[in-house]
Amino acid sequence: MTSAPKKKFAALISGRGSNMASLLAAAEKPDFHAEPTLVLSNKADAPGLSVAERAGVPTKVISHRDFASRAEYDATLDETLKEAGVDIICLAGFMRLFTEEFVTSWTGKLINIHPSLLPSFPGLNVQQKTLDAGVRVSGCTVHFVDAGTDTGPIIGQAVVPIDPNDDDASLSARILGQEHKLYPRCLDLIAQEKIWLEAGRVRYATDFRIDQSLSLP
Ligand code: GAR
Repeated sequence: MTSAPKKKFAALISGRGSNMASLLAAAEKPDFHAEPTLVLSNKADAPGLSVAERAGVPTKVISHRDFASRAEYDATLDETLKEAGVDIICLAGFMRLFTEEFVTSWTGKLINIHPSLLPSFPGLNVQQKTLDAGVRVSGCTVHFVDAGTDTGPIIGQAVVPIDPNDDDASLSARILGQEHKLYPRCLDLIAQEKIWLEAGRVRYATDFRIDQSLSLP
């Protein structure tokens, strides 16, 4: 039996790129169903770029500062990703909002990771807001991107308990540890077409097995 060709993914970063690194590391395993084809940053000084270069993955910088409008920037991004033959875009700390045109053009193929249990705590400074709210659990979410900010259909979540002594740094680190497990798992399932987006809802293949540790249905 011949296996299906691997899906090609791009990781979009703006900084450290530790989630991107976790995707690249997972993709080195022969049984992973996606392969990296591009790491793209809107910032030339993003530390994650050198991580990708060391891993032998092509990198590209498209600075938003070189474009007069969000529409022009997103059109160039769209063209670049399509030219690279990208099937799935993984946002990995890519700190930019997209135009509706871009989101529509990649619906079902554009995924993001966020360091909270969405729909709680969207936006920025998430871990501090989580601590300020006094909730006892937090976590991370991988979701399909829609036109809103951190609002798209949820693919998978991992729960992280909050310690009474946690501060922003300690909670962020504990959540990040789960992000690095959740994101590769979600990408692999999408690449295998075990999870997909249909009419605005996340659908799961009937032979899908529950993974209790990551709270995936
Ligand atoms: C991660 O915690 C990711 O969840 C968050 O930025 C960090 C990037 O770290 N993303 C968002 O807040 C998106 N709304 P990384 O560059 O080391 O992957």
